[in-house]
Amino acid sequence: MPAAPAPTAALECEDVTRRFGGLEAVRDVSLSVSAGERRGIIGPNGAGKTTLFRLISGEMPLTSGRVRLFGRDITHVPCHRRTHLGLGRTFQITNLFPTQTVADNLVLAILGLHPSKFSMLRPLWTYREHYARADGALETVGLAERRDDLVRNLSHGEQRQVEIALALLGGPRVLLLDEPTAGLSPAESARLTRAIRQLDAGITVLLIEHDMDVVFDIVSRITVLHQGRPFADGTPAEIRKDPRVQKIYFGEQ
Ligand SMILES: Nc1ncnc2c1ncn2[C@@H]1O[C@H](COP(=O)(O)OP(=O)(O)OP(=O)(O)O)[C@@H](O)[C@H]1O
Ligand SMILES: [Mg+2]
Repeated sequence: MPAAPAPTAALECEDVTRRFGGLEAVRDVSLSVSAGERRGIIGPNGAGKTTLFRLISGEMPLTSGRVRLFGRDITHVPCHRRTHLGLGRTFQITNLFPTQTVADNLVLAILGLHPSKFSMLRPLWTYREHYARADGALETVGLAERRDDLVRNLSHGEQRQVEIALALLGGPRVLLLDEPTAGLSPAESARLTRAIRQLDAGITVLLIEHDMDVVFDIVSRITVLHQGRPFADGTPAEIRKDPRVQKIYFGEQ
């Protein structure tokens, strides 16, 4: 019998490089993330982590290299189409409307509307199926009880939870999270970590995170970037005890 074909990776980067003038922010990064995997991306400040996410999401073009999503070459696919293909990422807080409720914000996002537009159109509350989707996403991130509160009354941590709920609305198969717990209190961070752990097991998650407790709690494998390059790769236990990683990363803290 022929050997079973190797399962297609959810996300593959092949020699991904991005230059800013003379600076190679990301250079020759190759990595393969399996479907359902939870992968941590760590590295010192300026290592190229966020730039790598921008290249994967299509927010910024590559200088060279290739990106594949479930085997499909998306290197030149525009950002919004990557979202339709199942690539999700957290939105910036500035995309939230502070004087709208949490649930309304999510429904507006589903409709792709600005709040000034919806009053002229069909009343928002009539979009029952959209509210059901919004409630599902809020439930997943542990924010169901805040659905009717105005976004401006949420804590910073709760706003970060809303951002993840927004990213979940598109039904992503691969989710990119860039420092989701940055600026959160320990209690908020623990709550968000729990919410990320409880995401559907089929969702592939790439997590950039400086808080090692959060990383070790969520991921099964870690890629360390240093000066734009993959520097080490392994299980959290392997990375934790790698003296080279301790020197470049833990040594800095
Ligand atoms: N749009 C840009 N134009 C010029 N240089 C940039 C741009 N974006 C990032 N850089 C540079 O590329 C390098 C990598 O930046 P990046 O933001 O990807 O690092 P990072 O690993 O996310 O760091 P941090 O942990 O601080 O978030 C840095 O030297 C940064 O100054
Ligand atoms: Mg960054």
